[in-house]
Amino acid sequence: MGSTTHDRDAALSAAPGNYDFVVVANRLPLDRIEDPDGEVSWRRSPGGLVTALQPVMQKADGAWVGWTGAPGPAPEPFDEAGMRLVAVSLTAEDVRDYYEGFSNDTLWPLYHDVIAPPRFRRAWWDAYVRVNRRFAQAAAEQAGEGAVVWVQDYQLQLVPGILRAGRPDLRIGFFNHIPFPGYEIFAQLPWRRQIVEGLLGADLVGFQRQGDATNFLRACRRAAGLTTRGSLVRVPRSWRRDISANSVGRARTSRAAADDDRTVRAATFPISIDSEGFEAIARRPEVKARAAEIRQALGHPKTLLLGVDRLDYTKGIAHRLKAYGELLADGRLTSPEDVLVLVASPSRERVEQYRRLRDEVEVTVARINGEFGEVGSAPVHYLHHSYPQEEMAALYLAADVMLVTSLRDGMNLVAKEYVACRYDESGALVLSEFTGAADELGGAFLVNPHDISGLKDAIARAARISPAEARRRMRTMRKRVREYDVSRWADTFLDALHGGPVAAEPEPQMQV
Ligand code: G6P
Repeated sequence: MGSTTHDRDAALSAAPGNYDFVVVANRLPLDRIEDPDGEVSWRRSPGGLVTALQPVMQKADGAWVGWTGAPGPAPEPFDEAGMRLVAVSLTAEDVRDYYEGFSNDTLWPLYHDVIAPPRFRRAWWDAYVRVNRRFAQAAAEQAGEGAVVWVQDYQLQLVPGILRAGRPDLRIGFFNHIPFPGYEIFAQLPWRRQIVEGLLGADLVGFQRQGDATNFLRACRRAAGLTTRGSLVRVPRSWRRDISANSVGRARTSRAAADDDRTVRAATFPISIDSEGFEAIARRPEVKARAAEIRQALGHPKTLLLGVDRLDYTKGIAHRLKAYGELLADGRLTSPEDVLVLVASPSRERVEQYRRLRDEVEVTVARINGEFGEVGSAPVHYLHHSYPQEEMAALYLAADVMLVTSLRDGMNLVAKEYVACRYDESGALVLSEFTGAADELGGAFLVNPHDISGLKDAIARAARISPAEARRRMRTMRKRVREYDVSRWADTFLDALHGGPVAAEPEPQMQV
């Protein structure tokens, strides 16, 4: 598509590959697990991104470029679960500085409204640049002439810019799975301009919520001095980056004629799940039997409350426990009749903030159990594990009330998974208004998790909801989750990337 080899950046000069569609994400959909005897197995990777993209990729004949989740040399590209998987290797130092450092100790807290203080370290930034270049190189090797490359999430924000410079023939999309912060927060980042310029290598930059897209457009104006009109950003075509390791994003400022400019679109595409697939799992007889077994193991509670998160400080787990503990103290909930199952899957365990959070959560759980438990019954069942989808579906089926109390969350797919599994239209969802899902799931009990009294009232109401009200609320939520599923999300994004109109966003539902 109009490019010649000499247009390409020398660093990405490998011959084009064979794939028309390439997804680039920090993680492959499967993690490589090596046991102490050296036995290697593959396990589904954590987080919402994989949940959403795996079914999309299985339908498309494409390649997925990502990391295996373990340091060291990468295996050769291989086919698994109907996908071509291309592993990028990260050394132990890359994992420390690019993944744990810049991605999860700088960008993650910064983009989640500094709930935890972000740390800015120049060595981490250098690693981020270096590793983003490696992902871009791997993607360029897989992508055929004129291919579509879809880059995912905050770990890889420089990849669109590097690809654009080296492979101008590609059509490049970027989707940010997490929030994009307001400019006053984003502006703290010493490398804010380079990040904006990296993203603007894409033709289309997608966000979960309108506020995220608006924040990004403002960052384009303020950090990169560009003009925007509506959802469009005008980018001088003469931007050529010297993408040597130390200066990614150092754009030359000379301007080409205006008619040579590129336009980049920033728009909203709320992500979803494979709703039908989830419901089908929940309908399996063995999953239903497992749900009954879970309730039996808990002594047939009157109300089973459930929380499912990665153990992350953005999820408001401490707020949830505080509200639950006070409800028990007030006698508005009672043990053993009411019980909370808290699934907190291990996450980013070498990052200090995550270690501290684990200690805090575990102390609080122990305190509640110590205070309100009896021999043979605990008011909180805390599970620091990850579970396969079947076990998750059984837990969702078993739970009367689902608690999602994030302080900030791009979307929160757990809320949608719960709704998808409740095919009998029972169950209630308590949902933080600071999640992307709150825009769509007005049938939930929407809460501000910082308002502990309000949160307690919502939990108490959800726990004592009448079957008729539960049905009314669940029905509206199920309609939304079934209509706007993950394939619709991907189709809408990819259509827009091909120049189609951006479909109108789903109308926010009124709160019931
Ligand atoms: C969130 C992010 C993903 C990330 C996932 C799991 O969903 O948006 O990009 O993969 O968390 O986190 P981890 O650090 O384990 O990949």
